[in-house]
Amino acid sequence: ININVVNESGETRGATWEEDQTLLDALLANQFPVLATCGGNASCATCHAYIDPEHFEASGERTEAEEDLLDMVDDVANEYSRLSCQTEYAEGLDGATVTLKPGM
Ligand code: FES
Repeated sequence: ININVVNESGETRGATWEEDQTLLDALLANQFPVLATCGGNASCATCHAYIDPEHFEASGERTEAEEDLLDMVDDVANEYSRLSCQTEYAEGLDGATVTLKPGM
């Protein structure tokens, strides 16, 4: 699928997302500088991103570990926050806009 990614400077660039990738995998494969300090284990929040409201539901349910971690960064998290390492590919996300957390 194709998504649009808004980087930390506010610039938007298209990216491709393959079926076997998490959102984090797709961001890294498209050369976005996501730190992903914990290596995709839902324990660092450096992969935090926002899905646009129209597509958020298609990104599925947050995991429990993800909810806990987003609670810890509630100064920047909002109802459209996801940990990109926990966000699975979904056809319904085609055309979605993903905004990287500022300062990532
Ligand atoms: Fe650490 Fe996603 S990479 S929480």
